[in-house]
Amino acid sequence: MLIIFKHLVTNRLAVRTLLLVWVLSCTMFSCNSYNSEFVEIEPIATHSNGMEYIGMQSCVECHQDIVESHKNTSHYKTSFETAASAFDSILKTQPNEINLKDGTKIVINKKGNKLFQDFYVLDNPTPVYHTPMDITIGSGFRGQSFLYWNEDRLFQNQASIIGSMEGWINSPGYASRMNNTRPVVPRCMECHSTYTAPIESSTNRVSNEYDINNVLLGIDCQRCHGEVKEHVVFHKKNPEEKVGQHILKYSELTQKQKIDACALCHSGFRQPAWDPEKRKFIPSFSYQVGDALDDFLIKNNRGSKDNSDPEIHANQIKLLTDSKCFKMSENMDCATCHDPHKQERGDFQNFSLKCISCHQSQEHSPKTLNLANANFNDCASCHMPFVDSKAMKIDLNLKELTPVRIRNHFISIYPDENSLP
Ligand code: HEC
Ligand code: HEC
Ligand code: HEC
Ligand code: HEC
Ligand code: HEC
Ligand code: HEC
Ligand code: HEC
Repeated sequence: MLIIFKHLVTNRLAVRTLLLVWVLSCTMFSCNSYNSEFVEIEPIATHSNGMEYIGMQSCVECHQDIVESHKNTSHYKTSFETAASAFDSILKTQPNEINLKDGTKIVINKKGNKLFQDFYVLDNPTPVYHTPMDITIGSGFRGQSFLYWNEDRLFQNQASIIGSMEGWINSPGYASRMNNTRPVVPRCMECHSTYTAPIESSTNRVSNEYDINNVLLGIDCQRCHGEVKEHVVFHKKNPEEKVGQHILKYSELTQKQKIDACALCHSGFRQPAWDPEKRKFIPSFSYQVGDALDDFLIKNNRGSKDNSDPEIHANQIKLLTDSKCFKMSENMDCATCHDPHKQERGDFQNFSLKCISCHQSQEHSPKTLNLANANFNDCASCHMPFVDSKAMKIDLNLKELTPVRIRNHFISIYPDENSLP
């Protein structure tokens, strides 16, 4: 882009020709002119409260850097339609089957450009189930799970991927026997997609029925910034306006509201709260940034109060807010250390600079300073060490469950920490 631009500047004739072509094509095909009174933006999904979701492409014009960078985040990549071609290599190099303890077997295979999981009982050569892997959940750092549609009902496939395509495992939480009908509840999609329109059941049972044409996979801008359509229309019509209009402003939220925006998905498996007036559970996807989250989800009672033995699957909130850093500083929130639009995993220097911004000097004892393997460019290696998750365990060898290692957000001094991952 830059190269083309430089080239154009040195070539005036080319600039003039291009301008002419641009003006002509604008008059001929009425391109997206800023002055147009009417800006039509097609919604790609609609919330049950009437809010219209639009494509992330509509932000590119004015926020190109953020959009490009956001596309590389785990948030954006956390759910998508399964692309079978991505599995060619694992299908060639790995045993693509899982033998379960009850003697049954799952075989993963590709037909045409779709992937399937087939379930076999004993020596019967005909599979008892043949389920497509329609949707992938997970950016592929720790693993990926798969979902399939049965009409408008959503189920989880039993076989998952461990790591980034390292092999197939029986999905976390499944017993080692055939079970291919695990319903996927809206709470799962609330954390792993921008919107998946739940169809409320008439009874109070949580349903796995969705409006299949009203789904927006991946976590995009609107999950954190809410309604944006009016904002886009306004700024297209008013290109001279430099202050964001018709858009929720994080700078105007309280600390609690900011933390709630992340806590929706990062405070563990909290269940929907009960609405005493309507006498039913509050539907998932009701919470919007700015609301008080505790009105929508019950408090997480699971796990221990003792932070040396934390229950931390996806529960960075409790741990962080228990830390001295949080309690003794003003206005710390998740964005103090994380840029939500960037893929930052592994960028230790970046995170350490955030620590140093508050801890200009640190009093480390000679013993600490002389520790073998100590890396003072990576403060988190000692002060936010990896710990075993009690909630996330995976079945690697059918004998025992191996816990997933998670970054501890209880920032503290861990004197005996053998912390390097
Ligand atoms: C036609 C231009 C235009 C388009 C298209 C546009 N914006 Fe903006 N947006 C602006 C301007 C101008 C501002 C104010 C300057 C800034 O913060 O970058 C802004 C600010 C913002 C802010 C910061 C608000 C604040 O002050 O905290 C957010 C969030 C935002 N836009 C989100 C979006 C999203 C999401 C999209 C796509 C759905 C989008 N914008 C599309 C022009 C646009
Ligand atoms: C709609 C649910 C949701 C919200 C809201 C949300 N997250 Fe996440 N976040 C996730 C999920 C799901 C993952 C795991 C994605 C994956 O790897 O598939 C994740 C992963 C992350 C990661 C790890 C990124 C990596 O490199 O693997 C960070 C850091 C993070 N979130 C921070 C935040 C912050 C900060 C906020 C608030 C501004 C926030 N999240 C809001 C669901 C959410
Ligand atoms: C995981 C939640 C999350 C997602 C997804 C997200 N943002 Fe943000 N965004 C935030 C938070 C939190 C802030 C405030 C950051 C701060 O306090 O420093 C912010 C700030 C902004 C700002 C104003 C400050 C700045 O960095 O310029 C703009 C503009 C913006 N976002 C645009 C977007 C666009 C466009 C997308 C989609 C491509 C997007 N955001 C996706 C959470 C998110
Ligand atoms: C409360 C929000 C929440 C719910 C509900 C939830 N997850 Fe997650 N999930 C997360 C977060 C956050 C992460 C990132 C790991 C972490 O920070 O602990 C994650 C990680 C994952 C990963 C690993 C992603 C990777 O690439 O590392 C998979 C796979 C996954 N979840 C699948 C599911 C499925 C399937 C369901 C529903 C049946 C589900 N999750 C329910 C929030 C949630
Ligand atoms: C917004 C400012 C801020 C940031 C950012 C911050 N801290 Fe702190 N931290 C504090 C304050 C305030 C205290 C309490 C006073 C003190 O001990 O200096 C504290 C305390 C600590 C302590 C002593 C804890 C104890 O239990 O005695 C450690 C260790 C620490 N921080 C490490 C870190 C590391 C590592 C990071 C980066 C990952 C970090 N801090 C980021 C403000 C911050
Ligand atoms: C004081 C700095 C700091 C604050 C504040 C902070 N984090 Fe982190 N976070 C980190 C560091 C450092 C990592 C490790 C990054 C890496 O491994 O590259 C991390 C990793 C993560 C991960 C990946 C977890 C994993 O096990 O791999 C998630 C998710 C996350 N943070 C969410 C949050 C949320 C949500 C908040 C707000 C409650 C938050 N963080 C606040 C420093 C911070
Ligand atoms: C090799 C492990 C290790 C690394 C790396 C490390 N620390 Fe520490 N830190 C400790 C230990 C252990 C203590 C307790 C004092 C002691 O025994 O040295 C401590 C104490 C602290 C304290 C409390 C004492 C004080 O100065 O107020 C702070 C704050 C702190 N560290 C911040 C940091 C920051 C910021 C970084 C990164 C620049 C960092 N640490 C890197 C192990 C480490």
